[in-house]
Amino acid sequence: MAVLVTGGAGYIGSHTCVELLENNKEVVVLDNLSNSSEEALNRVKRITGKEVKFYKGDISDIVILDTIFKKENIESCIHFAGLKSVGESVAKPLEYYQNNIAGTLILLQKLREYNVKNIIFSSSATVYGDPAFVPITEECPKGLCTNPYGWSKSMLEQILMDIYKADETWNIILLRYFNPIGAHKSGLMGENPNGIPNNLMPYVTQVAVGKLKELGVFGNDYDTPDGTGVRDYIHVVDLAKGHVKALQKIDEKCGFKIYNLGTGKGYSVLDIVKNFEAATGMKVPYVIKDRRPGDIATCYCDPGKAAKELDWKAENGIKEMCEDSWRWQKKNPNGYEG
Ligand code: NAD
Ligand code: UFG
Repeated sequence: MAVLVTGGAGYIGSHTCVELLENNKEVVVLDNLSNSSEEALNRVKRITGKEVKFYKGDISDIVILDTIFKKENIESCIHFAGLKSVGESVAKPLEYYQNNIAGTLILLQKLREYNVKNIIFSSSATVYGDPAFVPITEECPKGLCTNPYGWSKSMLEQILMDIYKADETWNIILLRYFNPIGAHKSGLMGENPNGIPNNLMPYVTQVAVGKLKELGVFGNDYDTPDGTGVRDYIHVVDLAKGHVKALQKIDEKCGFKIYNLGTGKGYSVLDIVKNFEAATGMKVPYVIKDRRPGDIATCYCDPGKAAKELDWKAENGIKEMCEDSWRWQKKNPNGYEG
């Protein structure tokens, strides 16, 4: 029996493929490579010594979905595929809703048609909006998103909840990720952003490697200890391991579940700069800039529910996250493109 991993060539997907294979799961990847490279899957094979079946195609392509469900023995789906750039989603809402929502609806219809009613969905802390309280538990009410990307996650959560209400033979887990950073310890796999990075850690590593001049810190007047934004950074390999645990939960016929995946610790932008410099010995010059529209002051979770029900806890600290991000950047200054 195999796991269908949509978006498996991407940052979190590729790391999850490694963990799944190392736990003796059979993996079938469907990815249109719109934001990734097939080289990531070669690296997965190099690290694990195991085969990954790869279908290059779109989650909205019913022909390729029929082929996969007929040829492969799929028993569950981990659904990473989606567009994820916040800024781009503001400029291209139709493309984002079409890809993320319409695409997922087609995938869900095919999962139902082939009676594969087991799915883990990549959601995000963004669904909490400006959180009603921190640390954020799963009981924290969902909030107002500030962009179409965030709404696509929030709406898909609702759609999945409604599907479960109508048919409780589904097993559905929503994983709300906090801020994934870091890379595989081998230095062979990591985050490979297109163009100038939007997210903090890839920006920091590109400054350290000399590709970018300095980091712009988006605001130092937030109500936080040093005035810069606080986030719950989680090592991507820990996050990937959370999916293996979630899959075990699906095997137990868990029904509908929601889990936060984070460490429970908040670090400010300047904490990240300091920790990165200490862990790597590299300098990261920065300048304070205006706040970025849509950003919130503080976001970190209470990861207790995942600890209790999934037996999962993040193991890597901020030092490892910085070291591993840096190793990947240093060994692959141009990402998978060599
Ligand atoms: P990523 O862009 O590296 O991976 C997504 C993958 O999906 C890419 O390989 C892309 O080519 C593929 N894809 C996109 N649309 C597709 C489609 N229609 N059909 C087939 N493949 C398609 O992103 P990631 O950081 O690995 O994120 C994975 C998931 O986790 C996404 O759904 C993202 O929204 C979610 N998420 C990410 C973060 C984060 O900060 N990285 C935080 C919370 C949630
Ligand atoms: N930041 C900077 N300079 C930069 C980039 C970021 O100061 O060049 C700051 C931001 O203002 C924020 C923190 O660094 O305070 C983290 O920013 P990121 O862009 O790395 O992450 P966000 O928390 O804004 O957003 C991320 C993902 C979203 C996801 C959200 C919640 O990009 O997709 O986490 O999970 F929805």
